[in-house]
Amino acid sequence: MRFTPIKRVDNKLVLLAQSKLPLEEEYLELDDHRDIIAAIKRLDVRGAPAIGIAAAYGVAVAADRARRADIEFIRGVAEEFKAARPTAVNLSWAVDRVCDRLASLPTDDVDERLSLLWAEAEAIHEEDRLMCLEIGRHGAELLTDGDTVLTHCNAGALATGGIGTALGVIYTAREQGKTLRVYADETRPLLQGARLTAWELQQEGIDVTLICDNTAGMLMKQGKVDHVIVGADRIARNGDVANKIGTYSLAILADHHRVPFYVAAPATTFDAATECSDGIVIEQRSPDEVTSGFGVRTAPHGVSVYSPAFDVTPFELITCYVTDTGIKPGGRREGGG
Ligand code: MRU
Repeated sequence: MRFTPIKRVDNKLVLLAQSKLPLEEEYLELDDHRDIIAAIKRLDVRGAPAIGIAAAYGVAVAADRARRADIEFIRGVAEEFKAARPTAVNLSWAVDRVCDRLASLPTDDVDERLSLLWAEAEAIHEEDRLMCLEIGRHGAELLTDGDTVLTHCNAGALATGGIGTALGVIYTAREQGKTLRVYADETRPLLQGARLTAWELQQEGIDVTLICDNTAGMLMKQGKVDHVIVGADRIARNGDVANKIGTYSLAILADHHRVPFYVAAPATTFDAATECSDGIVIEQRSPDEVTSGFGVRTAPHGVSVYSPAFDVTPFELITCYVTDTGIKPGGRREGGG
């Protein structure tokens, strides 16, 4: 990849400021965990695996700065991170893993404990990189030379520690010599598709066409979409998938038009502790993002706004899950439309 969204440099975390893309490519150097939490909330780092990785590094940053690595302090910092964005399970999974690892370390030596925190964050980062490669390898088998893929939001390198999940499948298929065309939903209201996926795919030389979210149905009706591939923020035990708002509508359209609908996600996005969608907390975003997105007022003052960041796509609408351990069947029965 030509860019590095998350990097440890000494005792700092360096993040590509995604809220500024595609107009500016600016890197933030953060050595205070409160700034990392703010960056997560501002979506300077975003995407389920990426916020988990950033939070794991953030715990190490907090400990390093305070020169404290006792478990009470670290669990308190972990809770601060968990509160930043509730829907992606990768975030709570990552900070819980760091805490559990620290709790099992027998020594009180601060330097040793700090080293363990940094090493654990780096391990989470590296494991995600490897899982993306495996997702790409398995998912690429679903794609044929000349296919057109539609994707939503950004589930690419910007959202993970590696080549991405949904976009990782596309990069891997391209490496296998397949020529693909991608439609990227712009992804209202924060335009992760327009600002990030279009930018990322352009950087990587993939043929990408940007569409408004409400164009997807027409394209499918015209037979111009062979596959839909999206990422996930949390997958419940029954297979329901929380992902960027608009994913559910896309899954219904894909079912109606008999276009296969794939969810690409690493093991860390599967949440065995949550039975079904009722147990998934959906983050609500600020009304300003809808009424005054990117600083331009487009709605009357005083209007009520409902802006969930994610929706839930039921198991029944998913053709299959592309995971790091292979392709798992979803619950969609063919023959819709
Ligand atoms: O609000 P965001 O930009 O963090 O939402 C991201 C998504 O919904 C992605 O599809 C998901 O996290 C998977 S990223 C590999």
